[in-house]
Amino acid sequence: MADRPTEAPREGATVLPDPGSEPHDSSRTHVTGRSEYVDDRPLMRGELVCGLVYSPYARARLVKLDLTAACAVPGVACAITAADVARNAWGSIFVEQPILVEQEAQHAGEVVAVLAAESREALAKALRRVHAEWEELPAIRTIDEAIAAASFIGVERTIARGDATAALAAAPHRLSGTLVIEAADHFYLESHAAVAYPRADGPIEVHSSTQHPTETQHVVADALGLPFHEVVCIARRLGGGFGGKETQAAPIAALAALVAKRTGRPARLVLSKDDDMIVTGKRNPFQIRYEVGFDGAGMLLALDAQLHSDGGAYADLSTAIMERALLHCDNAYFVPNVRVRGQVCRTNHHPHTAFRGFGGPKGVALIESIIEDVARTVGCDALDVRRRNVYRPGHDVTHFGQKIEDNCLPALFESLESRCEYRARREAIRSSNAAGTGPLRGLSMTAVKFGIAFTTRFLNQANALVNVHRDGTVQVSTGAVEMGQGVNTRIAAIVAERFGIAIDAVRVMTTSTEKNANTSPTAASAGTDLNGAAAAKACEAITRRLGHLANHLRGLPADRWPSRTAGLGTAPEFVVPEGPPPSPVRFERGAVIVEADGGDAFEIPLPRLLGEAYLSRISICDYGHFATPNLGFDKEKGQGRAFLYFSQGVAASEVEIDRRTGEVKVRRVDLLMDLGRPVNHALDMGQVTGGFVQGMGWVTTEHLFYDDHGLLVSHSPSTYKIPSVQDTPRIFNTDLVFNERNTANIRGTKASGEPPLLLSLSVWTAIRDAVMSERERLRGELELVPIAIPATAERILRAIERETFAAIEAR
Ligand code: MTE
Ligand code: HPA
Ligand code: MOS
Repeated sequence: MADRPTEAPREGATVLPDPGSEPHDSSRTHVTGRSEYVDDRPLMRGELVCGLVYSPYARARLVKLDLTAACAVPGVACAITAADVARNAWGSIFVEQPILVEQEAQHAGEVVAVLAAESREALAKALRRVHAEWEELPAIRTIDEAIAAASFIGVERTIARGDATAALAAAPHRLSGTLVIEAADHFYLESHAAVAYPRADGPIEVHSSTQHPTETQHVVADALGLPFHEVVCIARRLGGGFGGKETQAAPIAALAALVAKRTGRPARLVLSKDDDMIVTGKRNPFQIRYEVGFDGAGMLLALDAQLHSDGGAYADLSTAIMERALLHCDNAYFVPNVRVRGQVCRTNHHPHTAFRGFGGPKGVALIESIIEDVARTVGCDALDVRRRNVYRPGHDVTHFGQKIEDNCLPALFESLESRCEYRARREAIRSSNAAGTGPLRGLSMTAVKFGIAFTTRFLNQANALVNVHRDGTVQVSTGAVEMGQGVNTRIAAIVAERFGIAIDAVRVMTTSTEKNANTSPTAASAGTDLNGAAAAKACEAITRRLGHLANHLRGLPADRWPSRTAGLGTAPEFVVPEGPPPSPVRFERGAVIVEADGGDAFEIPLPRLLGEAYLSRISICDYGHFATPNLGFDKEKGQGRAFLYFSQGVAASEVEIDRRTGEVKVRRVDLLMDLGRPVNHALDMGQVTGGFVQGMGWVTTEHLFYDDHGLLVSHSPSTYKIPSVQDTPRIFNTDLVFNERNTANIRGTKASGEPPLLLSLSVWTAIRDAVMSERERLRGELELVPIAIPATAERILRAIERETFAAIEAR
């Protein structure tokens, strides 16, 4: 793996210093085990530990809930039920989800009561003594059942361009099919956790593993019947969120806070891995019916697709996730005639939610899978079909009407094709597969073009508080939540650069609604874009004032400086005028330099200037608010500028399949991304490799199983298989192109959080490539083999050995 960008800047680009690779601000405490997560908070005197009672059935009426025996256990402090919740409804888009079940559970794992006790032993005993009687009711468990029952959430959304129906009818070739994509668990290492403290002076302070402190604050306040100013939500860091803590942390925090308010004692609710997996929602399953029209060269002419997702029992973010899926059905490819329709289904599963990629991966899976089939149908290599259809000058407007600026896709394909020796390896694989003796191999290159911005415009805002201290060190507070991705380190780098100081001189403070209110979740990969820009605005306000003062001091004899005169009041006080400083000022190497106009440049150490500023009663702190400009997507029309820019990339994956077991090994991955000009190259590389491997789990081994009543049974690492170090690609070449043309975003960066995950789809298309070549060898003719996500070993084997399985099952 290269540790620095290897591609030279393009012609005409200004050469800027190498992007930094400062270590993550928590790296030392992570490796020494001293990083504090919610459940590492020291136990307070009188603190209570909480546990959940939930429905074992997908849908059931609560006939009786008797908690007397449970509450009689010594050490049990209280039980909370729906009757104790002031406002028993929450939700980010539709306010419709109860915090506690009132009469009817809509999914297995839906919480009906919380017990609080002085010890874990007492809690465990009390949970065993809960007497709940349920009447199991018919439930909707699949997308098909939901469609049949017209059980939907929100309205159907459509994005269209041209006339897909007419273009399909006229197309020389057509293919149709159904793509099935299943759920996946976030499998963050830290389960949902909250500790609530009733503060002596009134407000409730909640420490929550939330990606969205503001929403958590609001949901807690509503549940407790308090005004917002009586609740503070604090999020120091998460042991991974991956979207799973964007909404679903809020009700967990509310449950802990309900106990704290009732008892006046601190209350801790930390879910076990099993409870976490059973209670909380996953990546939305999707079922996509499609028809595609193309010509003999594999040029795409029309796409008509109907997407249905399983939203689970409540809306959560599913309608927004569906929108992002519709916005990514094109991925890297220009399709002249498109109609994509999306409808979220209401089922009796846990409410599904945000997960890295947020709908994008489903749209991309569709078109990348289609291209593999188109290529086989017309007898071309899939890479040629991709390169023919890729967005290019003249064909660079998406189906939702946004022009792709800074389109790197053709260059990325070209570069990776030669870097990964695609053609030679393709030939080698073709001939070894044809022999039918050695291991079965597949190769595929897919792309990503991920839109950066929340698709809901009002979420694209952030605020930051920058406190500069007189020794030249800085504390920054934003609404951003550090969940491993390194947002704090990036914000610190942006601030350090503005003041020309070392990154160690900047500390990003614990995220709290006390300092930053009305914030958006740290999501949509926009954490640094939004919060970094807000911090930069605060910095600019401070450096403007300091710049004026430096200009003023340049012309002032030393004995007239505020440090000599301010205490005595013997000189007039300098008042900062409007506008920029008369002579430009640079902040560099801990000093402030006023450009020379004719004479010598004037240089003053930053701490010295800060001291003079303080004595002149000039503020050296500020607050910045940033709102992303130029966004305008009309959800009803399905048209407009949905995104600020696109993070782009390509990856080629080679897989090896064991013909007898269907087991997959990823032999080699070559990955190339355009992340603009990274703020922190090392952190971005971590996001790229981590996101890719996380996605590999989703497309291969991660498979959720539910019992006949709808209760999740694969709720631990023994039954749910995430990638281990053994599963990572044997050869993993990852690199970034150096691109300084992204003027749309702070410092020319492009977001890295979610986009790399989508490149893992190349592993899935490589599996399909291998399976289809094997079927063709066995049957002597072309066969397009659909394989669901995840492409588990069992599914792969069933696809290769379809006749054998059919014969066995017919017995
Ligand atoms: N990386 C780590 N280590 N842990 C996480 O939880 N979440 C991902 C991504 N990378 C995540 C991560 C998701 S879903 C998003 S939206 C972004 O980080 C959020 O952070 P950012 O906006 O600062 O990139
Ligand atoms: N991405 C992530 N989270 C979100 C979004 C989005 O586009 N919209 C609302 N929440
Ligand atoms: Mo990420 S799915 O937007 O939290």
